[in-house]
Amino acid sequence: YGHFTFDPGFLATGSCESAITFIDGANGVLLHRGYPIDELATKADYLEVCYLLLHGNAPSESEYKEFVDTINRHTMVHEGIEFFFRGFRRDAHPMAMLCGTVGALSSFYHRDLDITDPAQRVRCATRLVAKLPTIAAMCYKYSIGQKFVCPQNHLSYSENFLNMMFSVPAEECKIEPAVVRAMDKIFTLHADHEQNASTSTVRLAGSSGANPYACIAAGIASLWGPAHGGANEACLTMLEEIGSVDRIDEYVAKAKDKNDPFRLMGFGHRVYKNFDPRAKVMRETCHEVLDALGINDPLLDIAMRLEKIALEDEYFISKKLYPNVDFYSGIILKAIGIPTNMFTVIFALSRTIGWISHWHEMLSQPGAKIGRPRQLYTGELPRSFTPINKD
Ligand code: CMC
Repeated sequence: YGHFTFDPGFLATGSCESAITFIDGANGVLLHRGYPIDELATKADYLEVCYLLLHGNAPSESEYKEFVDTINRHTMVHEGIEFFFRGFRRDAHPMAMLCGTVGALSSFYHRDLDITDPAQRVRCATRLVAKLPTIAAMCYKYSIGQKFVCPQNHLSYSENFLNMMFSVPAEECKIEPAVVRAMDKIFTLHADHEQNASTSTVRLAGSSGANPYACIAAGIASLWGPAHGGANEACLTMLEEIGSVDRIDEYVAKAKDKNDPFRLMGFGHRVYKNFDPRAKVMRETCHEVLDALGINDPLLDIAMRLEKIALEDEYFISKKLYPNVDFYSGIILKAIGIPTNMFTVIFALSRTIGWISHWHEMLSQPGAKIGRPRQLYTGELPRSFTPINKD
């Protein structure tokens, strides 16, 4: 079988070299191209972060303008995508529609696609970043039976997404600036996170030279699970299940019970064992949005109380389990009126730049190899096959 290290869950396996994102889990550090995430979330907008992740440096004024113009030129989707959508069941999960539709982009953009050409790879990346908000909003509109809303290029990236979500052809919606800022921060805080399950999936799929749109669809599939991107949705579902502040103790006890598989969704992280620097910014944003909107929602009361109880509980302290980014992003999204089943879609939209930047980086590296993990075989020893009698 040759020699290899058995490492289920890849707890100790470095799969690539990357210059995009640095994480020091023990000290709660997250840098994109050297910049701390809290600075990026408070001083840059999401498209600047996209440029930074993809190109390696923050854009100059003219580079930024050109990048925004290019994104704006690609926000529309092919008419055929609308027909494609109509094949989905109305009650399909928006993640199922997103995964299918982004995969289908590979059938629209396959001709003359030379992935060895860096300029063509960058074009794929900008096309994806531009179209994801349009497709994500289409998933929502289709699921509620409303007409798709076209992108409006005079709006910022985040406002445009919110407009496509909440406008109807009869009336444009008015979106609070605090909500637009929060949306942009949610996008930025989810933009990349080095070799997590979905990014590794995109790299693995792309390592065979596959079509990039199909690779991103693979990333979306991997993100969907509740242990990864699905956690923000699972967290809100859990809060709904808890139902009232006086039932929190019961759920905390369940989470601590070794014989109960229940976990508090939105708590804990594989890499951050001290605090999640994204959660810190998200927590502040969460309180800003709740204050700005003056929302009175019992679910949000449960969330705030749960946060307090868990942060003071010995079990969570000793196991270094803190609310993660998805705990707070779920609460913000709920407060601004995004339905729970769209939460992971928004995570996927935000992470697309991270995935495609890793794909671009991988294909820029000389001597890149197809990803091919090994296994420990636990099956039968060699045996002889006896055909059954088919007469
Ligand atoms: N609630 C209760 N106990 C927990 C939790 C939790 N949320 N998370 C971990 N534990 C316990 C776990 O039972 C284990 O206990 P013991 O040592 O007694 O067996 C210990 O803490 C270590 O857990 P682990 O599963 O070995 O830790 P991990 O690093 O493999 O898992 C995790 C990390 C995020 C999958 C896990 O904490 C979890 O399932 N959290 C809930 C789901 C969630 O919020 N996921 C979003 C992660 S952030 C967004 C993203 O990166 O996609």
